[in-house]
Amino acid sequence: MAPESPAPHCRICGDAVTEFLDFGTQPLSDAFRDPSDSTEEYTFRLAVGLCETCGMVQLTEEVPREAMFHEDYPYLSRGSVVMREHFRRMAERFLATELSGEDSFIVELGCNDGTMLKTVAEAGVRHLGVEPSGAVADLAAGEGVRVRKDFFEEATALDIVEAEGRADVIYAANTLCHIPYMSSILRGVTTLLKPDGVFVFEDPYLGDIVERTSFDQIYDEHFFFFSASSVDEMARRHGLELVDVEHLPVHGGEIRYTLARPGARKRSAAVDELLTSERRAGLGELAVLKAFADRVYAVRDELVALLRRLRAEGHRIVGYGATAKSATVTNFCGIGPELVEFVCDTTPAKQYKLTPGAHIPVRPPEAFAENYPSYALLFAWNHADEIMAKEQAFREAGGRWIRYVPHVHVV
Ligand code: SAM
Ligand code: TMP
Repeated sequence: MAPESPAPHCRICGDAVTEFLDFGTQPLSDAFRDPSDSTEEYTFRLAVGLCETCGMVQLTEEVPREAMFHEDYPYLSRGSVVMREHFRRMAERFLATELSGEDSFIVELGCNDGTMLKTVAEAGVRHLGVEPSGAVADLAAGEGVRVRKDFFEEATALDIVEAEGRADVIYAANTLCHIPYMSSILRGVTTLLKPDGVFVFEDPYLGDIVERTSFDQIYDEHFFFFSASSVDEMARRHGLELVDVEHLPVHGGEIRYTLARPGARKRSAAVDELLTSERRAGLGELAVLKAFADRVYAVRDELVALLRRLRAEGHRIVGYGATAKSATVTNFCGIGPELVEFVCDTTPAKQYKLTPGAHIPVRPPEAFAENYPSYALLFAWNHADEIMAKEQAFREAGGRWIRYVPHVHVV
């Protein structure tokens, strides 16, 4: 008999994590594969659980960080016009507020290709991006952004303080939820932050994931699924305070959290409002999360049945957006090239590769426009407005979109 794996422990408080959703064996979501590559793919068990002590929802198995974030990490922040605008506005807000003093300093964790810091650099404000993935860090440097090729953790923070002093703002978008070693991160944040500085981060919101059944937010890189209540608890345990929350429409629904040292900033009313609404929704309750898991299994069955029926009727189906999220959809649902002919994507490093696990070919968007399919399966549903606006010709040619968030439907 195989030995039982040890019960997972919460990466915030150390207590037991109770699993409520199991996606089985999955590949790395951004490990796009060369068609000639015959080596074995890295796999792990993707499952999610709740720590009933501190309320943090998290993966039960951790993938080593170097397996995900390395020289060839393909994701680019600049891939969406909407996100470029989102980050420009964030930078401008920082410049007008926290960074308006003399010799202000901002550190961005996971600055990627420099989309946000570029605006700060252009304003001549002192900044540093910390980015372990080599190729995207080089793109940031090419934008005039100062970048340190490194994983942020406590040791990195100590080093930065010694070389450059403390920061007015530490910012992280779609990065903090990727990092299981949270104690080291938050010790680093308290080391690096000025006494009245702020730590601002934005990540997919558990409340939106549960409400929209957006189960594809769950993949190797997304380790934590934050809520105001779990972040409030996490901050408190690390000598910080949650002082503001802001609900954002991007990436399928996110919260921007602001943390500060206790008493340094006035806590906004929005924090208590969100905490109350989460209590009402039962976001920290196992029964609510188990009901979410049941809806996930139902969406999987319905989506696969629809794709099979359309293929049996002779329709061509093409995927739109080779998102990291789509790795969970294709591998959990068992969707391969027999159902989805190819996936189109604007990211150069993904094109002419195969999607992880499911091995669906990735093509540039031109392949989509050259020969429209009858149906496009919208994997990049979080960019739906932007994509549908630019793909009107597909709709006018009779093409239909298949969507699976918040439920399976054709538009
Ligand atoms: N901030 C960008 C955005 O929102 O578009 C990029 C988000 S991308 C999904 C996550 C980024 O976090 C990757 O570029 C990855 O290399 C970086 N990352 C992962 N672990 C990190 C760590 N410990 N410190 C700093 N960056 C990290
Ligand atoms: P994301 O959901 O993690 O931001 O990934 C979006 C993916 O979709 C990324 O690989 C880029 C791709 N994409 C397109 O191919 N066309 C588009 O118009 C947009 C907005 C994204």
